Amino acid sequence: MARPRQSIHGQWSSRWAFILAATGSAVGLGNIWRFPYITGEYGGGAFVLIYLVCIIGLGVPILMSEVLLGRRGRQSPINTMRTLAEEEGARPQWGYLGWMGVVAGFLILSFYSVVGGWTLAYVVRAIGGTFAGVTATDTSNTFNALIGDAERLLAWHTLFMVMTTVVVARGVQHGLEKATRILMPALFILLVVMVGYAMSTPGFVEAMQYLFRPDFARIETEAILAALGQAFFSLSLGMGAIMIYGSYLPAKASIPRTALAIAAMDSGVAILAGLAIFPLVFSYGLEAGQGSGLIFQTLPIAFGQMPYGTLFGTLFFVLLTFAAWSSSISLLEPAVAWLSENRGIRRINASIIAGCIAWVMGIGSLLSFNLMADNKLFGKTFFELVEYLTTNIMLPLGGLLTAVFAAWIMKRSSSADELGLGESPGYHMWRFATRYIAPVGVALVFLQATGIINL
Ligand code: PFF
Ligand code: NA
Repeated sequence: MARPRQSIHGQWSSRWAFILAATGSAVGLGNIWRFPYITGEYGGGAFVLIYLVCIIGLGVPILMSEVLLGRRGRQSPINTMRTLAEEEGARPQWGYLGWMGVVAGFLILSFYSVVGGWTLAYVVRAIGGTFAGVTATDTSNTFNALIGDAERLLAWHTLFMVMTTVVVARGVQHGLEKATRILMPALFILLVVMVGYAMSTPGFVEAMQYLFRPDFARIETEAILAALGQAFFSLSLGMGAIMIYGSYLPAKASIPRTALAIAAMDSGVAILAGLAIFPLVFSYGLEAGQGSGLIFQTLPIAFGQMPYGTLFGTLFFVLLTFAAWSSSISLLEPAVAWLSENRGIRRINASIIAGCIAWVMGIGSLLSFNLMADNKLFGKTFFELVEYLTTNIMLPLGGLLTAVFAAWIMKRSSSADELGLGESPGYHMWRFATRYIAPVGVALVFLQATGIINL
C-alpha cells in the first residue's frame, strides 16, 4: 500500500541529513555534562555497564520505533500518534503520549538551557585565559561564583534560549544542519585529545578501573533507574524528539542502520567524556560525586596545564555549546510543529511562544543554585526535581508506551513495511526486543524503584 503522506514541515535532504540531525539531538550536554556527573554520583563501573545494557537492549529498539512511527505519521508527535492510532484501529487517547512528550520537552529544555548558559559563560572564561595554572580550588570558586549569581545565569540562560528559538523558527532542516556536519566531528576529535591528555595524568589507571570495573555491591535500585533514565535522556528518547525528526526522513532511508549508527556515536562520546574527566578527578583528588558542576570544575584544570590550553579550552566550550544547541532545538521542535499544525500559528510565532514558556520555567531552575537553593521538595531543589521527573520517569514511561504501540498495537505488516526489513531475522530481533525486553525492562525498573516489587 503506497502512503503518499508528506510532512507539511518539509523533509531532510537525505538520510545523512537525518543522521546528522538525530546525532545532533542525541549528542549534547547529556553525554559530556550529565553522563560523567551521574556516573560519579552512582559510583562508576556498575552504573556504566547498566547504562550500556539499557542503550543496547532498550534504547536501540525504541529509537527504531520512534523513527518508524514518526515517518509513518509524518506530523508532530501528538498528531502522528492520533493518526496512527486511528489507522491501526486503536484508541485516539494515544495522542496523550504525544502530549506527555511535549510537556517533557518543555521541562527538559527549561533546565537544559540553564546549563547551556553555563557552557556559554565558560566560552568567555576560556577566551579570557582564566584557566592558566588554575588549581582545583580556583575552578570550584569560579564555578560557584557563576552559579551563585542569579542575574548572570539569567543573562546566559536567556541568550541560549534565544539561540534555540531562532533556529527552530527558521526550521530545523535549514538551521544547524550544515554547522553540525563539521562541528560534531571536531568535538569528537577534541575529546580524543582530552583523553590523550588525561592518559598522561597519574589518575588514569584508577579512572579506568573506576569506569570499567563494575562493583555490583554498590548498586542500588536507584542507580538502575538513573542508568535507565540517562540512556533515554542521552538518546533523546521518550518525548517525541526523534519521532518528529523521523517524520522528516525520506521514505527510502533504512531505519535500523541509522538507529545503530546514532546509538554508537552517542555512547562513544559519553565514554570519551568519562575517559577525559575521571583521570583528572583522581589525579587532583576531587570528589567524583560532587554533582552537576563536575566538568566545569575538572576540565579547566587540564586546560590550564596543557600546551595551547587557552585555545583548546575555548574550542572545547564552543563545540560543547554547539552540541547543546543542536540538542535543544530538538526539544522545542515537537511543540512548535504541533502549534503550527493545529493552531495555524506561523512557525516563527509558534517558536517564540514555545521558547518563552520554556524560558520562564527555566528561571525556577536557575534560582535553584542560589536564591532558592534551600527551597526543597522531597529533598530536591526545583532543578533537581525537574531533572529527576523528566529523566527518570517521563522519558522511560514515554519510551515504554512507544514500544507498546509499535510492537503490540501496530499491525505486524505496518512495522515490517516501515522498517524495510520484511520478515527477516533483523525484524524478528527488533520485534522481540520492542515487544518484550523494552516494556518489561522499564516496568521492572519502575516497580522496583517504587518499592512495589523487591527483586
Ligand atoms: N540527548 C540530549 C543530550 O544527550 O544532551 C538531550 C535531549 C535532547 C534529551 C532531546 C531529550 C530530547 F528529546
Ligand atoms: Na546524548
